[in-house]
Amino acid sequence: MNKQALRLAVFLAAFTGMVVLFGCTDTETKLYTPTYTTGIPATELSSKAFKEAFPSQYNSYMKNNESEVMTEYKGSIAYHKNDNVNPLPIGFKHAQPYLKNLWLGYPFMYEYNEPRGHTHAVEDFVNIDRLDSFSPDGKGHMPATCWNCKTPRMMQWIAKYGDSFWSKDVNEFRGKDQVTTEESISCATCHDPGTMELRPYSEPLKDWLARSGQDWNKISRNEKRTLVCAQCHVEYYFTAKGNGPALRPVFPWDLGKSADACYEYYKSHGPKNAKGEETPFYDWIHAASKVPMIKIQHPDYETFHDGPHGAAGVSCADCHMQFVREDGKKVSSHWMTSPMKDKEMRACRQCHADKTADYLRSRVLYIQDRTYKQLIEAERHSVKAHEAVRLANAWTGPKPSNFDALMQEARDMVRKGQLYWDYVSAENSIGFHNPTKQLNTLMVSYTSSQKAIDLALEATKFGIADKLTGNIEDIVPPILTMSRELQQDAEFLQKNPWTKLLPVKPKTARSWKGQERLSMANTSN
Ligand code: HEC
Ligand code: HEC
Ligand code: HEC
Ligand code: HEC
Repeated sequence: MNKQALRLAVFLAAFTGMVVLFGCTDTETKLYTPTYTTGIPATELSSKAFKEAFPSQYNSYMKNNESEVMTEYKGSIAYHKNDNVNPLPIGFKHAQPYLKNLWLGYPFMYEYNEPRGHTHAVEDFVNIDRLDSFSPDGKGHMPATCWNCKTPRMMQWIAKYGDSFWSKDVNEFRGKDQVTTEESISCATCHDPGTMELRPYSEPLKDWLARSGQDWNKISRNEKRTLVCAQCHVEYYFTAKGNGPALRPVFPWDLGKSADACYEYYKSHGPKNAKGEETPFYDWIHAASKVPMIKIQHPDYETFHDGPHGAAGVSCADCHMQFVREDGKKVSSHWMTSPMKDKEMRACRQCHADKTADYLRSRVLYIQDRTYKQLIEAERHSVKAHEAVRLANAWTGPKPSNFDALMQEARDMVRKGQLYWDYVSAENSIGFHNPTKQLNTLMVSYTSSQKAIDLALEATKFGIADKLTGNIEDIVPPILTMSRELQQDAEFLQKNPWTKLLPVKPKTARSWKGQERLSMANTSN
């Protein structure tokens, strides 16, 4: 499509709220969302129940089980994102070796994997080492809030427990009798089972719509095709005690959706101090630098919404749920995966019909190669900033009179550097959803970390300069393996200068395996 035609299509789409007009000549037949009377009960949670009425959507949804195919940067194998030492059969090249260092002291350091399809969500969740599977009392030491993005059973739990749900222990809802893998993200996550209309179930999204004065029934169909994904593919945090229902999830969007807006937002929203003012919010204290940190999680929607596609009114579904023809009917593919898995790049060519698959693929890779390179630089610099502050914290030599003020700012710059890095690292497209914003965000990350290093040097009158000179891989080697079990092993923790900083955990036997609660007889040894 030529530029002018594209612009006209975009204008029309914006004007009418029907993105399917985008120069895709044969989609014009599908101008409205079909509605149905299914007779399926509103409480139905399992995808199987929809198979008979909607075989096409059901069958394509089951393709989300596929877990063998990688693309250059992404794909559907749940590999450890920090590990390039044990390449996958297909040879994964683009690991991020410093993830465990940057999350030192936070459960993310135990295990963090590449996402795969929705049908795996419950299974992958109950097997991740971030949930405590070693506690003698069976607790997971995470709030039940985590279930919000794994299963539509949430609707029943919220109806039953209300806001007391969130602060229950996550493992109270673990086990096959509570939630089965069949109830992983399923049709009811995005559809009203009775009519198949798109509808949100996620409490934090509904809160955001209310807070920003939006009524779901008045939102355009096109935007709904994105907002159902924004139920989960977004940054969130858990409400601090005293600021509302404890541990209720919230989208921190009141000041905007960029990394800048997150950084400003989290300057408050922590627990209230003695004067009744909100303190800065933090997720955990970094075990090396002792800086109160923010963990950003998958801000896919926030990144995408003001990028070249988001701003032009393209929706998540346009690229991740392309239209396919079946028996002469157009249906949405429910295989929500990387469009790069398709050699023909058909999802893209619905609109970019004048471009070849090779050209489109090369544009994605062009963006990803450059983003990944800067991501790794920002990541290494963030590690160096933590190390600088760690050394300065312990500094006993001569100090300038404004030492405390310099260190306070240095800590804030460590926090800022890592928040901006994570905004890009945790985002799922390696830059493609918004290339300019992501490179800009990485630049702010890098300069903030550099500022932290400069301030720590100044605070120690350059006394720590020697220890910061050289290759960061020699100063702070990447932590490539770490787990809850290994944290019980004092000898293992001695092997890396940063794992040494972690407390040794008491020896405890495994109390959970996936959905199975191991009996005490099994666990005592
Ligand atoms: C213009 C097309 C386009 C749009 C619109 C789009 N994406 Fe993507 N998305 C991509 C591409 C390309 C990738 C990179 C895939 C790869 O490298 O294999 C990607 C990657 C992803 C991934 C990671 C896939 C994987 O293999 O792990 C997720 C998750 C994702 N997008 C979610 C979203 C969400 C949510 C939205 C809307 C807020 C969205 N995308 C909008 C094209 C798009
Ligand atoms: C993550 C969200 C999500 C899940 C899960 C989901 N859908 Fe959809 N579904 C959509 C979106 C988005 C559309 C496009 C709606 C539109 O264009 O107005 C859609 C469209 C449909 C349609 C309308 C016809 C079509 O193909 O466009 C049917 C029927 C449907 N889905 C059935 C199902 C069934 C059955 C399941 C479970 C096996 C399911 N969906 C799971 C998001 C979802
Ligand atoms: C209820 C929360 C939720 C909703 C709603 C949701 N996702 Fe996801 N999505 C997830 C989770 C969780 C995973 C990772 C699952 C895993 O790795 O086990 C995921 C994974 C993905 C992946 C990676 C798949 C792969 O093969 O690597 C893509 C792409 C994706 N989602 C796109 C979408 C799109 C597009 C929508 C909206 C139509 C959407 N998601 C709605 C939670 C959600
Ligand atoms: C629903 C229609 C639609 C789909 C699907 C779509 N695009 Fe686009 N694409 C657009 C529009 C609209 C623009 C903005 C054009 C403009 O502003 O001039 C755009 C712009 C672009 C650009 C130039 C902007 C930039 O990022 O530098 C590239 C490259 C691109 N698309 C690649 C892709 C790829 C790759 C896919 C599939 C993963 C894809 N598009 C899917 C409509 C679409």
